[in-house]
Amino acid sequence: MPAQPDNLLSMDPPEHSRLRRLVASTFTMKNIESWRPRTEQVVADLIDGMRAKGAPVDLVDNFSLPLPVTVICELLGVPAKDRHFFQHFSRVILSTTGATGEQVQAARAELENYLAHHIAEHREQPRTDLLSQLVAARDDQDRLTEAGLVNLGVTILVAGHETTANQISNFVYTLLDTGLWGTLAAHPERLNTAIEELLRYVPLGNGGGLARIATEDVEVGGTLVRARGSGDGRDGFGEPRRHRL
Ligand code: HEM
Repeated sequence: MPAQPDNLLSMDPPEHSRLRRLVASTFTMKNIESWRPRTEQVVADLIDGMRAKGAPVDLVDNFSLPLPVTVICELLGVPAKDRHFFQHFSRVILSTTGATGEQVQAARAELENYLAHHIAEHREQPRTDLLSQLVAARDDQDRLTEAGLVNLGVTILVAGHETTANQISNFVYTLLDTGLWGTLAAHPERLNTAIEELLRYVPLGNGGGLARIATEDVEVGGTLVRARGSGDGRDGFGEPRRHRL
C-alpha cells in the first residue's frame, strides 16, 4: 500500500515538526490534565453501566472502546454517536490480514469523506474543539493544505481510540492471565509502575501501513538496513524493491 505523503505518520522533519506544532498546544501536559475530570466521569459512568448490566459483561464494547471514543470525539469535535461507523473503517485500516489493500484504501476514503463533512460544518460554525483550531490553521493562517487537514483529522481520530482501546483490553487480559490482577488490586500504589510495564510488555498491535524507510545505512541487531535509494535496486529491507513507497 502506498504511504500517504500527507500523513503525519509517514513524514520526516521539517514537515513533520511543522505539523506537530499545529497540534502541540492541545497535547500539552497541562491541557491533557484539564481533561482528567471529564475522563474520570466517563470512566465512572461506564463502570456504573457495566455494574447495572451485571456479569458477564463485554469489556471491549462496554468500556475499552467507548472510553477513548468519547474522549477523542469531544476533544476533536466529532459526534461520539458515529462511533460504529468510524470504528468499522478504523479496524479495516489497521487490519493486516482481514482486508485487501483496496479495501484499506476504500476505508481511508470513507473516513476522509466523514472528516471532510465535519470540517465543512466547523467552517460554517466554528467551535472551541481541535478540529476548529485546525480549520483556522488552514483557512486563516495557511499552515495546512486541505488534504493535510483532512488527513490529520483522520489520523487523530483513528490513533486516538484504537490504540487505547486495544491497550486497555490487552492489559486487563494480561493481568488476568498472569494472575497479577489480584496483586495489583491489593496494591493500588503500584498502578503507575504497572502501567509503564504493561505499555512495554504488551504489543500495541501489528497494523500495516506504517512503513519505515531508512534515510541512511544503519545497523539494527546486527543487520544492515540500507538507506533508501542507495543505488543497488534494493530497498531498506535488503529485498529487491517491488513497490514504490
Ligand atoms: C495507549 C495508548 C497509545 C499508545 C500505546 C500509542 C502508541 C503510539 C506509537 C507507538 C506511535 C508511533 C508510531 C510510529 O511512528 O512508528 C504513536 C503515534 C501517534 N499517536 Fe499514539 N498511542 C496511544 C494513544 C494515542 C492517542 C490517545 C492519540 C490521540 C489523541 C494518539 C495519536 C497519535 C499520533 C497523532 C501519532 C503520530 C505522531 C507523529 O508521527 O508525530 N495516540 N502512538
